[in-house]
Amino acid sequence: MSINLIQAEIVGRDLIEMTVTDHGVPVRVRFVGCDDFAREVKQCYLSHGPNPKNWPLPLGTSHSALLLKEFILKCQGKWQEVYTEQELCHCRMVQAQTVEQAILCGAHTSEAVSRWTSAGTACGTCKPTIEQILEARLLD
Ligand code: FES
Repeated sequence: MSINLIQAEIVGRDLIEMTVTDHGVPVRVRFVGCDDFAREVKQCYLSHGPNPKNWPLPLGTSHSALLLKEFILKCQGKWQEVYTEQELCHCRMVQAQTVEQAILCGAHTSEAVSRWTSAGTACGTCKPTIEQILEARLLD
């Protein structure tokens, strides 16, 4: 039997992960983070049980809600990356991960993403992709 890890993270801030067996049986859920994130996770656990597959998707666009939404969708096997390459903005050499993290932390418009990361501030070819990621992340 091997163990798999399902994880969602705002690097250096909040992290939630679940270890599961090959057959999808949850072994353990672990999280670290701020009080707001801990409160959301505990609320799900107490109201809906220990298996994150059964947790409802959180509403809203707080960093906690967005991160928990990603985690629950991953646990349910429904998470879809909008952009799968490493580098999203080739002009500024900005990684997709950097854009995703900025959105999780509160950059909720393409202008904000550009200000925080510099992605999209040259030729603009990557802007539609940034907007697709924003839409996927922020849509309830
Ligand atoms: S590819 Fe992002 S600004 Fe050109």
